[in-house]
This record gives sequence, C-alpha cells and structure tokens, in this order.
Amino acid sequence: MGHLVLNLNSKKTLKEMTKRHFVSHTNPDSQIAEQFRTIRTNIQFLSVDGCKHKMLILTSPSSGEGKTTAAINLAISISQQGDRVLLIDANLRRPTLHTSFNLKTSYGLTDILMGRKTLEESVFQTKIGRLEVLTSGLIPPNPTELIGSKAMSQFINEIRDEYDVILFDCPPVLETTDTKLLAGQCDGAVLVLNSGKTEREKAVEAKRLLNLVRAKVLGVILNERE
Ligand SMILES: Nc1ncnc2c1ncn2[C@@H]1O[C@H](COP(=O)(O)OP(=O)(O)O)[C@@H](O)[C@H]1O
Ligand SMILES: [Mg+2]
Repeated sequence: MGHLVLNLNSKKTLKEMTKRHFVSHTNPDSQIAEQFRTIRTNIQFLSVDGCKHKMLILTSPSSGEGKTTAAINLAISISQQGDRVLLIDANLRRPTLHTSFNLKTSYGLTDILMGRKTLEESVFQTKIGRLEVLTSGLIPPNPTELIGSKAMSQFINEIRDEYDVILFDCPPVLETTDTKLLAGQCDGAVLVLNSGKTEREKAVEAKRLLNLVRAKVLGVILNERE
C-alpha cells in the first residue's frame, strides 16, 4: 500500500482556507501541489500492471479529515496533465463540492439517478484544464438506496469510457454504507487519514471495511494538522 504524507499548513485565515481546496491550481509550485503530483504519479504507477485505475473513491474514517480537500486537489493535479477528469460529489448526506466550486445549480448526481436529468445537463465544466464536476444534487431521503441502485451501476458503466479518470468524493466509510457500496464498483480506494484527528483504531477499521467489500486500497493520504 502506498503511503503519502500531505502536510497542509493550518495557520491560515478563513478566507485563505477556502482556497486550500484549490491550492494545486492557484499555487502549482507549492509543496502541497508537488505532493499531489506525487500521489497522482503513484496511482498511475500502480495502474501499470493489469487494470487501469480510472475510477477511484476517496474516503476517510470520519468527517472533517480532508477527503474533499484531497479529492479536489488530486482531480486538479490529474487534469493538469491534460486528462479529462470527472469529480463527483458522492456524499449525498453532507455534500460540499458545490460550495467549494461556488456552484448555484441544484442539479447533480441524484437528478441523474432519478432519471430527471442527463449527465450533460448536470455536469459543470470548470476552467481548470478538462476538469468537470458533478455536484450531489438535492439531498435525498434515501441516499444509501440511491447509491446502491441499479441506476447507479448503470451510470458508472456509462461514464467509465467517457473520462480518463473519475473521482468520487465519498462520505466517511465508518458512518455510512454508501461508501462501501461504491467502493466495490470502483477500481480503487484512497484513504485519507488525519494525523491530528483520526484515531488509530478507526483507521484500521476503515481499511478492514474496505477490504471486506474487496475494494483495492491503493494508498493512504496522511493529512497532517497541528
Ligand atoms: N491540513 C489541514 N490543515 C488545516 N485545515 C485543513 C487541512 N485539511 C483540511 N482542512 C480544512 O478542514 C476542513 C475539513 O476538510 P474537508 O476536506 O472538507 O474534510 P472532509 O471532506 O473529510 O469532511 C475544511 O475546512 C478544510 O479546508
Ligand atoms: Mg467532504
């Protein structure tokens, strides 16, 4: 299992903190951007033998550990190579990607799964390379059912060939079944751990649960906080 340390500086003002999500874009020469390039390269190396890891989930044991920050920066880093990347907010309970990208639209993944919208109608083209973002859509009463639905499997199959890489920003793996349902259908999982927050037992349990659903845990991003 790969092991990467991601050290984001936490001594920032709130305004700068919102930019942290985009540091790979705004500060491509920074150490953080460089670390995401290393993560990107490691994932690509892992893909050499056998199947290509084009559909990945990012998760962590609990909330607030840095999943979304890691997902956005990794997506940016991959798109900077010229790849067509789709970043999906699969956290249907506490979605945040629309806030990070400052998107007002309420269409997203749930609308596609309910058959109300197509991907073309819902996806947002960012100005960052060929990075596209699909927000969660309205928070549904039955997130697990939607994530585990036939419509979701069909959607995954449909988009697989459209993009070079697809990243799912998932809910915490210890708190919902949703992540496990998705993990089993993707090519790999990246586990975000927070050295200032994640308890050791929870990290071990998260890994165990992912292994149980036969997810291929490609590596750990160790997000450090003071
Ligand atoms: N290394 C870090 N240092 C300081 N703040 C961080 C760090 N990593 C993430 N954050 C901030 O912590 C909050 C939670 O991060 P987020 O990526 O949204 O976590 P999650 O998606 O796992 O809930 C966000 O406000 C984010 O900007
Ligand atoms: Mg999040």
